[in-house]
Amino acid sequence: MMACVASNSHHDPRARPIGVFDSGVGGLTVLHELLVALPREDFLYLGDTARFPYGERSPAELARFSAEIAEELLRRRVKLLVVACNSATAAALPALQRRMMETTLGVEVLGVVRPEALRAVATTRSGRIGLLATPTTVASGAYEQAVHAVDPHVTLHAVPCPTLAPLIQAGEQFDEHTVGAVRAVCAPLRRAEVDTVILGCTHYPLISPLLQRLLGPGVTLVSSGAALARQVEHALSTRGLAAHESGADRDGEWGEGEYRFLCTGDVEAFRELGTRFLQMPLGEIEQIQLAPVEALA
Ligand code: DGL
Repeated sequence: MMACVASNSHHDPRARPIGVFDSGVGGLTVLHELLVALPREDFLYLGDTARFPYGERSPAELARFSAEIAEELLRRRVKLLVVACNSATAAALPALQRRMMETTLGVEVLGVVRPEALRAVATTRSGRIGLLATPTTVASGAYEQAVHAVDPHVTLHAVPCPTLAPLIQAGEQFDEHTVGAVRAVCAPLRRAEVDTVILGCTHYPLISPLLQRLLGPGVTLVSSGAALARQVEHALSTRGLAAHESGADRDGEWGEGEYRFLCTGDVEAFRELGTRFLQMPLGEIEQIQLAPVEALA
């Protein structure tokens, strides 16, 4: 009887975990929102910590890394793939989506750029939106495209921030150097008089109080986690993939899902940094080696 239940749940796509990946621990700010919004789902998070940072890598390199990670998560039978990394989404999402739909599992891929762009356009009153992101993300033009697809009359002021993510990752406490770096990236956005700023990198929610202070209280910050969580919820419901529809809940009783971690670098470093980014206890972390794949078309 037990074996029968186990094998049914193994074959039921609704019982499979959602795969989430990032260049390292930064995507845990996105996972945090997913865990809050979708408490019954299981998650499998992969942080490519051995190759962090992604923010100044070429689109071709990020397309290859994303494909390697996606293959690993598919082998582990995820039902949906979430690219929590802004740089990887901006540089490689369409190619990755094509590749994944061609696999026998036909897994869908969602990224962080579009939900944030939609939310920013819905938020702005002046039509002037700021973007803080890595150089790779800014150079891709992905946010411009996503924003202009919704409203071509909105202006996007993009500021590439090459040092910000590594600075945030390194700093337990923010010193004057960090404050100076944040002040410098906010200056052009203040001059442009934007009323909405997209936090286009997984690390920036950790400094949102500092950003809000330096940009002023009239500016609305838009981060990817909450906007993406809504899209994931929508995708699961409309495709009949939500865990709570699998019949596991009885009489209104339900338990929380599980979450696990894979990383390509040092496990202890992941645990130490990860707790700060996830703001929840970290459980099992496994170090893995990714198999190389041929380049994406
Ligand atoms: N996850 C990356 C991003 O959102 C963090 C920065 C990096 O890896 O350079 O772009």
